[in-house]
Amino acid sequence: MKLDKILSENNKYLIQNYQRFPIEMVKGDGSYVWDSKGKKYLDFISGIAVNNLGHNNKKVNKAILSQVSKMLHISNLFVIKEQVNYAKELCKNKAGYKAFFCNSGTEANEAAFKLARRWGLLNGEKSKIVSFSGAFHGRTFGSLSATSPKKYRYGFYPLTPGFKSVPFNDVDKLEALVKKDKKIAAIIVEPIQGEAGVKFSSKNFLKKVESICRIYNILFIVDEVQVGIGRTGKTFCHEHYNISPDVITLAKALGGGLPCGAMLVNPKFSDFLTPGSHGTTMGGNPLSMAAGIASFKQISKRTFLESVEKKGNFFLRKLQKIENNSMIKEVRGLGLILAIEFNSDAVARKFCSYCLKKGLLVILTEKYNVRILPPLNVKIKEIDEAMKIFLDALEQIYD
Ligand SMILES: Cc1ncc(COP(=O)(O)O)c(C=O)c1O
Repeated sequence: MKLDKILSENNKYLIQNYQRFPIEMVKGDGSYVWDSKGKKYLDFISGIAVNNLGHNNKKVNKAILSQVSKMLHISNLFVIKEQVNYAKELCKNKAGYKAFFCNSGTEANEAAFKLARRWGLLNGEKSKIVSFSGAFHGRTFGSLSATSPKKYRYGFYPLTPGFKSVPFNDVDKLEALVKKDKKIAAIIVEPIQGEAGVKFSSKNFLKKVESICRIYNILFIVDEVQVGIGRTGKTFCHEHYNISPDVITLAKALGGGLPCGAMLVNPKFSDFLTPGSHGTTMGGNPLSMAAGIASFKQISKRTFLESVEKKGNFFLRKLQKIENNSMIKEVRGLGLILAIEFNSDAVARKFCSYCLKKGLLVILTEKYNVRILPPLNVKIKEIDEAMKIFLDALEQIYD
């Protein structure tokens, strides 16, 4: 089918809830993808932090093909060996933690909120959940109620009751709230707010949130849906901050490219979801598990994570060289989640359009931030290739 026809049928048959590029991507290999007209792109979006090993990873493909010939789905009525294996891998350095598998990030957070309420019921009848300004935790009703920007919430009121929001990185406001309101069951935080434009929590902030949770007996949930699974140069992003969350939520890269989400739970809380209290039909299906394990085993190797850190530092140093450009406000990054913050929306848009024209995929996020998410096995020469396009773009769009 010709691209024009696909585009018109896309509009005719699909609900128009996405603003899609009018491009059909048909093939990927490593850090590159090709569209239906044969144009090659350097993919520094990675399926929005999903394809952490790039496209067409041999070990992931092999694991998928081997699982396909055995079984795709059986349901959680039965024991699933692949789930056990993956949980064991994920919790290897987290003694006693247990996993629950689902299909997406929003579902992982819903599970965490339900756990918080079950636990809270028996612990002072607490049910409220606190999140932060700028936060993005998903689009189902519970997660949406913890997601702060109005643009995601508009038209969907009333949201789930019992959710409160506090300014990001504001410990005083958080402490004032939990002192006053004794019904807070959980606090959920992203270590780095990806959708908000790669906004970092300060090191002290997460440590203080943790200590508030300990003092006031509140469940500490860290949402690593975007920044987990090696993205920042550690298996889990919270490892940078010397904290120990009670619940870690994961998705995106967790399934090695297939749909998969999870929450990992500290042993103190892991028995509160009893049989029948929560579940999913497809979550943790053998196929997603097989792909996820094959991907996670490669990513979680110490040498691999060290290479992510090195390449991230290399990329950030290169970006810092353009930071004094008058159109740029700031550049930021940790591992291979990076951002260029521009001074205006128009400039950020022109920058992204130029990159796209030159065959480089990056995402425009909140407040003029261009988010850069290369595959974690990106090559140094590919980072150089992207930097060259960035430099050209800055020259071309300067006015
Ligand atoms: C931090 C964070 N949490 C949750 C989600 C929701 O994940 P999903 O789109 O898989 O439901 C996202 C998605 O971007 C995210 O970045």
